[in-house]
Amino acid sequence: MTRFLTPIWLFSATVLGAAHPMITPAPNLKDRMVPVERDINPVSYVHGVLESLGSDVSSYVASGVPQFFQDFPSGDAVESSLGIDDDDLAATPTQVLNIPGYANWTEQGWNVRVHGNVYKQPNISQERLDDLANIFLIGTDIDELQPNEQTQARNLTASIFVVQQSDLNVTINFENDVDVRPDASGGVINAEGGAQSIQLPYETTAEGDFDAFIILQNTTGPNGGHLIAGNATNSIQSLNMYANGTLSGNATAYLVPPTGFTIISDIDDILRITKIYEPKEGLLNSFARAFTPWENMPEIYANWSASIDDFHFHYLTTTPEQVTRNYMEFIYKTYPLGSFDTRPLNFSDVSATLSIRKFLLDKIFQTFPQRRFVLMGDTTNSDVMKDYPQLVRDFPDQVQCIFLRNTSATDDGDLFPYDTSGFEGLDQRQYMFFVHADDLRGVDIVGGNCHNAAVQQNVTFGWQGQGFGNAAPALAIKGWNWGLLAMSITLTTIAQIVL
Ligand SMILES: *[C@@H]1O[C@H](CO)[C@@H](O)[C@H](O)[C@H]1NC(C)=O
Ligand SMILES: *[C@@H]1O[C@H](CO)[C@@H](O)[C@H](O)[C@H]1NC(C)=O
Ligand SMILES: *[C@@H]1O[C@H](CO)[C@@H](O)[C@H](O)[C@H]1NC(C)=O
Ligand SMILES: *[C@@H]1O[C@H](CO)[C@@H](O)[C@H](O)[C@H]1NC(C)=O
Ligand SMILES: *[C@@H]1O[C@H](CO)[C@@H](O)[C@H](O)[C@H]1NC(C)=O
Ligand SMILES: *[C@@H]1O[C@H](CO)[C@@H](O)[C@H](O)[C@H]1NC(C)=O
Ligand SMILES: *[C@@H]1O[C@H](CO)[C@@H](O)[C@H](O)[C@H]1NC(C)=O
Ligand SMILES: *[C@@H]1O[C@H](CO)[C@@H](O)[C@H](O)[C@H]1NC(C)=O
Ligand SMILES: *[C@@H]1O[C@H](CO)[C@@H](O)[C@H](O)[C@H]1NC(C)=O
Ligand SMILES: *[C@@H]1O[C@H](CO)[C@@H](O)[C@H](O)[C@H]1NC(C)=O
Ligand SMILES: *[C@@H]1O[C@H](CO)[C@@H](O)[C@H](O)[C@H]1NC(C)=O
Ligand SMILES: *[C@@H]1O[C@H](CO)[C@@H](O)[C@H](O)[C@H]1NC(C)=O
Repeated sequence: MTRFLTPIWLFSATVLGAAHPMITPAPNLKDRMVPVERDINPVSYVHGVLESLGSDVSSYVASGVPQFFQDFPSGDAVESSLGIDDDDLAATPTQVLNIPGYANWTEQGWNVRVHGNVYKQPNISQERLDDLANIFLIGTDIDELQPNEQTQARNLTASIFVVQQSDLNVTINFENDVDVRPDASGGVINAEGGAQSIQLPYETTAEGDFDAFIILQNTTGPNGGHLIAGNATNSIQSLNMYANGTLSGNATAYLVPPTGFTIISDIDDILRITKIYEPKEGLLNSFARAFTPWENMPEIYANWSASIDDFHFHYLTTTPEQVTRNYMEFIYKTYPLGSFDTRPLNFSDVSATLSIRKFLLDKIFQTFPQRRFVLMGDTTNSDVMKDYPQLVRDFPDQVQCIFLRNTSATDDGDLFPYDTSGFEGLDQRQYMFFVHADDLRGVDIVGGNCHNAAVQQNVTFGWQGQGFGNAAPALAIKGWNWGLLAMSITLTTIAQIVL
C-alpha cells in the first residue's frame, strides 16, 4: 500500500485535494479592512476576497460552516503525521463508531439504516497530543486551560487523529435489550423481539465508513415477544445494535412507524452554545469547554417529547463524523433519545460539504414519505437557511414547522450575513424566527400553527446581517477576517508540526 511519509499528506488526503498543492497563504488583515459599498451582495463580496487568496477551501467560510471543523486529516495522513506504522497500529484494537439509526416499515418488514465508521485509535503520547490540541486552540495554549478543559481538548484531538479502516465487513448483532423507562422519551418503547446478526451488504469505504439499509427478520424474543409491525402501532420501538467483535460499537436503532411527527434538529448554536461565528469562542466551546445547552432548550424538548404523541427525535448536524461521540454524549444526557446523523467522511470536499445537509435531509424525507417534519435550526448556517424552505417545495406535504433561532438578535458577536429569500411565499403558520427558547412555548405543532403570535416577525426577504446592512461594514469584514485567520493559523500550524 502506498504511504505518504512526507508532509504531502496534508494536501493529498484532506479536503484540500490534489488540485491544491499549496497552503492557503495567511490573509493580510490590513488589505481586507477596506470599507464596502452599501447594497453589495455579501457572499459574492466575500467570495471575491477569498478568490484572491486562491483557495477553494475558503468557500467554507463564506457558507457559515465552521471552518475549524473542516481540515481533519484521515487514514494514512494520520499515520504519517504521527510517525506510526502499520505494525504499531495492527496491535491496537479495531473500533467501530455505530451511529443510532432509524428504520422504516416496508413490504419486506422493518428496514433499518446502519451507519458509522471503522477505525483504530493510535497510541499518542500526551506531549504529542498537546501539540496537536494546540492547533485547534487559537490564542491560548493547552497549558493555560483548566484540568477538565485539558481532558476535553485531548479527548477531541485524539478523536480526530484516528486511522480509518477500509474494505472490512461489518456484522451487527441486534438485541432486544434496550431498557427505556416508560415515557422517558416520547413514544419510545422496548422492542420485544428481533434479535439477530446481520453482515452489512458492502465492505467499508476507502474512508472506513459504512451506511446501508438492511431488512430485519421477524425473530421471536424471550417470552414469545416479537417486533410489532409498523402498520400495527404508533409507537417507536427501540432495538440495540452492537457491532460484532468490539465493545466500542454500541448503538440503538429506532423503528419509526410510517405516520406521525419527526423533529429534525440541528445542534450547534441551537441545542448548545457554540458561537461558530466567533472563531476563537467557537474553538474553545468545541475543543475545551464542556458542551453547554443554549437557554432552556432541554425543557422545551422535554415538554414536546412528553406532550406530542410518539414524537420521533432525529439530530442532524453537519459536524464531521470524528466528533460524533462527543455530540451524542452531550445530546443523550441533555435531550430526548433519538436517531443521529453527522457528516460522513466522503463528504469532505468543498462542494460536498455544502451539499451534505440536503443529502441527509432528503434521505430521511424519502424514508418516511407520510410523516410530517418539524425542522429546527438557526440563522448562522447558510445551508439551513436554504435547505429548510426548499424542503417545503420539494416535499409539499411533509413539512409541518420550521423554527429558526435569530442568532444575531441575542449575540452582537454574530455578524454572519444570512439569506431569508427562501421563505418568501411560505405560509407564516408554517415557520417562525424566534429570539429566545421560551418563544417556542406558545406554538401548536400538531395543530399546524408554528408561529407564536407573541413573537413579532420582522422578516424582509433577502440578505440580512447587521454588518452588511446600514451600520458598520468594516466590522463585518473583521468578522470574516477572523474566520480566515483561524483557518490559516490552523493550516499553517498543522504544517509546522508535521514538518
Ligand atoms: C401491514 O404491512 C404489511 C407489509 O407491508 C402488509 O402485508 C399488511 O397487509 C399490512 N396490514 C395492514 C392492516 O395494512
Ligand atoms: C502507549 O505508549 C506508551 C509510551 O510509549 C506506553 O507506555 C503505553 O503502554 C502505550 N499504551 C498502550 C495502550 O499501548
Ligand atoms: C472522548 O469522550 C467521549 C465522550 O465521553 C468518549 O465516548 C470517547 O471514547 C472519548 N474518546 C477518546 C479518544 O478518548
Ligand atoms: C466480506 O464478505 C464477503 C461476502 O461474505 C466476502 O466475499 C469478502 O471476502 C469479505 N471481505 C473481507 C475483507 O473479509
Ligand atoms: C458517500 O457515501 C455514501 C454511502 O456511504 C453514498 O451514498 C454517497 O453517495 C457518497 N457521497 C459522495 C459525495 O461521495
Ligand atoms: C411477527 O410475527 C408475529 C407472529 O406471527 C406477528 O404477530 C407480528 O406482526 C410480526 N411482526 C412483524 C414485524 O412482522
Ligand atoms: C463476531 O466476533 C467474534 C469474536 O470477536 C468472532 O469470533 C466471530 O467470527 C464474529 N462473527 C462474525 C459474523 O463476524
Ligand atoms: C456495549 O455493550 C456491551 C454488551 O451489552 C457491554 O458489555 C459494553 O460494556 C458496552 N460498551 C460500552 C462502551 O458501553
Ligand atoms: C423506506 O426507506 C427506503 C430508504 O430510504 C426508501 O427507499 C423506501 O421507499 C422506504 N419505504 C417506504 C415504504 O416508505
Ligand atoms: C434578527 O434580529 C435582528 C436584530 O434584532 C433584526 O435586525 C433582524 O431583522 C432579525 N431577523 C429576523 C429574520 O427576524
Ligand atoms: C422583531 O423586532 C422586534 C422589535 O424590534 C423585536 O422585539 C423582536 O424580537 C424581533 N423579532 C425577531 C424574531 O427577531
Ligand atoms: C408543552 O407543549 C405543549 C404542546 O406541544 C404546549 O401546548 C405547551 O404550551 C408546552 N408547555 C410548556 C410549558 O412549554
